[in-house]
Amino acid sequence: MAKDKKYSAVITGVGMYVPDKILDNAFFEKIVDTNDEWIRTRTGIRERRLLENGATSDLAAKAAQDLLKNKNISADEIDVIIVATVTPDMFFPATACLVQEKIGAKNAWGFDLSAACSGFLFAFQTGCSLVESGSYKKVMVIGADKMSSITDYTDRNNCILFGDAAAAVLIEPTEETNLGLQDSLLRIDGSGKNSLYMSGGGSLNPPTHETVDKKMHYIFQDGKAVFKVAVKGMADISYDIMQKNKLTSDDIAYLVPHQANLRIIDATAERMGLSKEKVMINIDKYGNTTAATIPLCLVEYYRDGKIKKGDKLILAAFGAGYTWGASYLVWAI
Ligand code: COA
Repeated sequence: MAKDKKYSAVITGVGMYVPDKILDNAFFEKIVDTNDEWIRTRTGIRERRLLENGATSDLAAKAAQDLLKNKNISADEIDVIIVATVTPDMFFPATACLVQEKIGAKNAWGFDLSAACSGFLFAFQTGCSLVESGSYKKVMVIGADKMSSITDYTDRNNCILFGDAAAAVLIEPTEETNLGLQDSLLRIDGSGKNSLYMSGGGSLNPPTHETVDKKMHYIFQDGKAVFKVAVKGMADISYDIMQKNKLTSDDIAYLVPHQANLRIIDATAERMGLSKEKVMINIDKYGNTTAATIPLCLVEYYRDGKIKKGDKLILAAFGAGYTWGASYLVWAI
């Protein structure tokens, strides 16, 4: 990333939306062979949210409206909307178009970005690049997933993990280049395609009675295989970005990790030499909300007054693809 850039891209506003309906671990005890203790100790999850009516664009639009309201700006001011999601309302039009209409952002263009659990990191890098180039002044990046729409609630291996949510950040330029996004290390590796996927409904396996009967429109995950690579992938890349930017654990205010499994998060923090207080956690309340986890953490910790201007944050994720990465961000508000 160019260090001699004229503008830095900073987060200047945040918003979030989680549906009201809570699915606690007791709910899953009733529908599959599982128990609260197993779920808590293996994953760290106690509850997750369910959107009963509506789609991903509804989650995303509500997060966007929360941001606009808190920032006290009009939707007309938004130049670009990027929605990171693997649960778009439809193949097309893009969810970004549906969000644009719902919030009335009449001067915006935008698109969806598909990178599963790394979606927010990839979309954030993309949004920041649009701002750093000097081309755009207000870019909204939204991580939104209605994971319940692709979850098989008879599969105990997976159904306990996921939840529905959306969160949004506003990115704007500043000439204070010591603030905002400082660096990113982002990776993809398609050899992960056999461990975590949804194979039905696309051009490979267009929908038929057979694809539906075989439950190909649900998430398939080989949990054990993914767990091993996720631990190493997220821990290594988080450590690498610290080394590359000469950051010690004392320099870092928070690790902001994708919330897939508390044990993956703990392993990453340990590799970085960070104590528990320096790790953002809300997996207990929301489970894995895919593209929404990282911005959801940012919004909650910011609103609780736990992040301050100048704080150095490392955002890190690992997900289907495989996709993974880490970003070094200096908080600006
Ligand atoms: N309740 C009770 N038992 C369950 C269960 C559940 N909900 N789900 C699975 N089990 C059982 C398994 O069937 C297995 O039983 P067996 O040994 O008789 O076969 C046993 O628990 C252990 O399963 P295992 O896969 O070893 O558990 P784990 O410790 O790996 O935890 C995950 C499972 C899914 C929580 C974990 O593998 C994980 O988090 N994977 C990665 C998720 C991730 O990061 N994804 C990437 C981003 S989305």
